Amino acid sequence: MTEPLPTATFPPAFLWGAATSAYQIEGAVREDGRTPSIWDTFSHTPGRTAGGETGDIAVDHYHRYRDDVALMADLGLTAYRFSVSWSRVQPTGRGPAVQAGLDFYRRLVDELLAHGIKPAITLYHWDLPQELEDAGGWPERDTAHRFAEYARLVGEALGDRVEQWITLNEPWCSAFLGYGSGVHAPGRTDPAAALRAAHHLNLAHGLGTAALRSVLPAGHQLALSLNSQVVRPFSQSPDDLAAARRIDNLANGVFHGPVLHGAYPETLFAETAPVTDWSFVLDGDLRTIRTPLDALGLNYYTPVLVSAADGRAAGPRADGHGASEHSPWPAADDVLFHQAPGERTEMGWTIDPTGLHELIMRYSREAPGLPLYITENGAAYDDKPDADGRVHDPERIAYLHGHLAAVRRAIGDGADVRGYYLWSLLDNFEWAYGYDKRFGAVYVDYSTLERTPKSSARWYGEVARAGALPAAVEPAA
Ligand code: FCB
Repeated sequence: MTEPLPTATFPPAFLWGAATSAYQIEGAVREDGRTPSIWDTFSHTPGRTAGGETGDIAVDHYHRYRDDVALMADLGLTAYRFSVSWSRVQPTGRGPAVQAGLDFYRRLVDELLAHGIKPAITLYHWDLPQELEDAGGWPERDTAHRFAEYARLVGEALGDRVEQWITLNEPWCSAFLGYGSGVHAPGRTDPAAALRAAHHLNLAHGLGTAALRSVLPAGHQLALSLNSQVVRPFSQSPDDLAAARRIDNLANGVFHGPVLHGAYPETLFAETAPVTDWSFVLDGDLRTIRTPLDALGLNYYTPVLVSAADGRAAGPRADGHGASEHSPWPAADDVLFHQAPGERTEMGWTIDPTGLHELIMRYSREAPGLPLYITENGAAYDDKPDADGRVHDPERIAYLHGHLAAVRRAIGDGADVRGYYLWSLLDNFEWAYGYDKRFGAVYVDYSTLERTPKSSARWYGEVARAGALPAAVEPAA
C-alpha cells in the first residue's frame, strides 16, 4: 500500500497548467489566410461588447508566443491549455486545411515541448467560422459534421506531438449564451435554436471524438470541458428543490446525460416541451455522442443559487457573462436566480471553493473511473501596477489557494484529479466585457502589450514547483 499524501501535497504527476483561448489572446485576425469567426463579426457589431472592443489585436500572442512560452517556463508551469482557431486552419469551415494556420500551432507546440510544457489542445472555444454561422450555425446538424472534419485535420497535423485533446469548451455557453440570451456570438435569442445547438454540439463532440480517434496514436487522451454548474436550491422547500433540478438539467444533464450515460435527462423533454419537441435528435445520435472518453474537463468559477418564482416575476438575469433581457435558460421563466452570499470577484461572481469540491465529487460519481482535470478556474480583479511597476494581487492568491485546497481535499476523498489549469495565463479579451476584466496571472499593459507577472503568478509557480500548497496564504509583499 502506498503512503497517504501529506494533506497539502499533490500527486507527483499532477499537471500545473494555465489556460487561454485563441480569440481571447491571438490577435492577427487577418493574417495567413484567417477569415472572420462569429466572434469577429459579433465584436465588430456596435453595442455587443464593452466599449466596442474586439480581439483584432488582443494580446498579440500570435506574434509573441515564444515570449509567452518562455514566461510559462520561467514561472514553473508544466502544462498549457490553448485553443485552435478554426478560421485560421479551415477558413470557410470546409475543405482542406491552410498550411500557414497549422504551422502556427505546430511552432507553438514545439516551443512548449522544448520547454518541457505539456500542451493540451481545445478544438473549439466558441469561434465558429462565420461562413458556417451563415449556413445556420450550431442549430444546424451539418455544423457537427463540419466540426468532425476540422477535428480530423488538426488531429492529423498535430497528433504526433500533442497527447491531450479537448473537443469543445463549455458547450453550455456556445448554445445558451450564443443562441439563447444572445450575450455571446452569434447573438441570437431563440430558445428553440439554443436547444438544437446544444444537441448538435453534443453530436459534434461525439463525431469529433471518433474522427480524432481514427487519426491519433493509441494512448492519447480525448476529453470534453464542461462548465458544469453547482446548482444550489435557495431553500429545501419542494418548489425550490424542483427549480434547482430543472436548472441542473439545463446546465449539466443536457450535456453529461448524453455524453456519459447515452441519454438526455428523463424530465428534460417535458420541461422544455413549450419550446421544442426535440425531433432533431435522430436515431443513432445518442450512441454517437456516448463515445468513450479518456478524461473529463471541469471548469468552475462560482455556484448558481435558484428558487421557484413563487408568483414573483422572474426578472432579467445577468448570467455571469453579460446581461440580457432574454434568458439563457429555455422554458425556465418560472425559476428565479439569486446572488449567492459571500465575497465576490470583479465579475460579481461569489467566491465559494466548496462548490469546486462538490463538483469534483459529483463527477467522480457520475463518471466513475474517468480521470478529471480542472480545465479552468480563476478570478478577475481590478489589478493595477504600483509605483515600481509591480502588480500585487493578494485576492487572486487567496482565491487560488482556496480552490486548490478544495481540489486537494477532493483527491483526499478519492477523486482522480490529474491536473489544474488556471484561467488565465494572461489578461485578455473577456468576451462581452472586452478588456475590462483581468483574469490573468500575468498582467498585460494594453497600450504596450508588455507582460508583467503578478504576484499570483509567482505564487502559483512556487506551488507548481513544490507540488504542494503552503499552509497559509502569505500576505503579498
Ligand atoms: C469561461 C470561458 C473563458 C473565460 C472564463 C472567465 O466561461 O471558458 O473563456 O471567459 O469563463
